[in-house]
Amino acid sequence: MFEIERFYAKHEFNAPYMLSGSDAESFTISEILSNSGEYDENLQGFLDLKLSYTESQGNPLLLEQIAQFYENLESENILSFSGAEEGIFAFMAGILTEGDHLIVQFPCYQSLFEVAKANKVEVSYWKMHENEGWKMNFKELEDQIKTNTRVIMINTPNNPTGFHLTQKEQLELIRIARNHDLIIFADEVYRLGEYDQKDRIPPFADLYSHALSLGVLSKPLGLPGLRIGWIATQSKEILDQLAIFKDYTTICNSAPSEYLAIQALSNYNNLLQRNLQIIRENLKEFKKFISKHSSLFSWTEPKAGTIGFVKCHFTEDVESFCLDLIQKKGVVLLPSTTYFFGNKHFRIGFGRKNFTEGLQKLEEYIQEHLLQ
Ligand SMILES: Cc1ncc(COP(=O)(O)O)c(C=O)c1O
Repeated sequence: MFEIERFYAKHEFNAPYMLSGSDAESFTISEILSNSGEYDENLQGFLDLKLSYTESQGNPLLLEQIAQFYENLESENILSFSGAEEGIFAFMAGILTEGDHLIVQFPCYQSLFEVAKANKVEVSYWKMHENEGWKMNFKELEDQIKTNTRVIMINTPNNPTGFHLTQKEQLELIRIARNHDLIIFADEVYRLGEYDQKDRIPPFADLYSHALSLGVLSKPLGLPGLRIGWIATQSKEILDQLAIFKDYTTICNSAPSEYLAIQALSNYNNLLQRNLQIIRENLKEFKKFISKHSSLFSWTEPKAGTIGFVKCHFTEDVESFCLDLIQKKGVVLLPSTTYFFGNKHFRIGFGRKNFTEGLQKLEEYIQEHLLQ
C-alpha cells in the first residue's frame, strides 16, 4: 500500500488546512492561458483543440520546451508521461527485472522502491543521516554495491527532507555509478525550486550517459492537475524500452493537458518566480515558528523545494499527534510513519498561499494542548 497517498486520500480533501502538500500553489487555466501574454489567441486554440490521441512520445513542441532544461539533450532524448509517477512506474516495471538490485536514498517517496520490490527486485537503502543535515555517506553507498546492482535511485532535492546534493557530491555519485556501470535514476521533480540559484546543480542526465532525469510540472511550477511529467536521458536504448512500456499504460498524454503545459512552459519562469516568492515568505514564517518552539520541534532547513521534515521532541507517536491535529484543527501534517521512518517526524509543506492560516491553527493547538 502506498502509505502517503492513502493517508492523503483520507484527509487531504476533507480538512481545510493542507500544511504538508508537496506541490506549490496551483494556477488556474485562465492564468496559464495568459502566461505568454496572448490570452485570446490561446483560449481560442484551447477551445478548437481536437480531443484526438497525441504523439506517444509527447507533443513535439512540448518536448522542445522540456529540452530547454537540459544543456546536452534534445527533444529526441525525452519521453513524456502522465505525471512523474507514470515515469517511475515505467522504469520500475519496464526496465528492472527479478533478481536486479536497486539502491535507494532513504527516506524517500515510496514509489521509488515499492514497485521494484513488488517485482522481486532486491532493494537496499542508502540512509540519509539526520544529525549530519541529512547528508549521505558515499562509502556506505559503495559498500552496498553487489554484482547484481543495476541502479541507484536518488531524489534531489529530496522528499521529505529538502536535502539537496552539492555539485561535488553529484559528481562523486556519478563517478561511483560509472565505475560500477550502474544506472542513476534521478528523481528531480523539485528541481528549479532551489532558494538560492547557487544551489542549483545540473540535471544528472546532462552529465552521465546512464542517468535518467525525472521531471514534472507538479511541484515548484504548481501544476499537478495537468499530470505532465517526463524522463530525459542520453540512452536511446532505455528511452525506447520505456516507450514500449508506456504503450501498455497511457499510450499518450491528455491533449488538453499538453496544450496547457505548452502555454505554461512558454514562460515558465513567470510561474516559478511567483511560487518561489510564496515559498520564501512561508519559510521565513516557519523558521520563526520553529525557533519559538525549539523545545518541541527541530529540523534541518531545506535547501530547495516545498517541504521539510520536522522532528518532534514531545512525543514518540507523531502519527497520533497528526491525527489529533486534523480532528481538532483541520490541519494536515504528514507523519513519518508514511515513510517507514519511525514515528518522530512530520512533513511540513510551505508552498501554498494559505500556509499562514494553517500555521496559526497549529499554533492554537500547541497553546491549547502541548503548552499547558
Ligand atoms: C519525489 C517525488 N517523485 C515523484 C512524485 C510524483 O509526482 P506526480 O504526482 O507529479 O506524478 C512525487 C509526488 O509527490 C514526489 O514527491
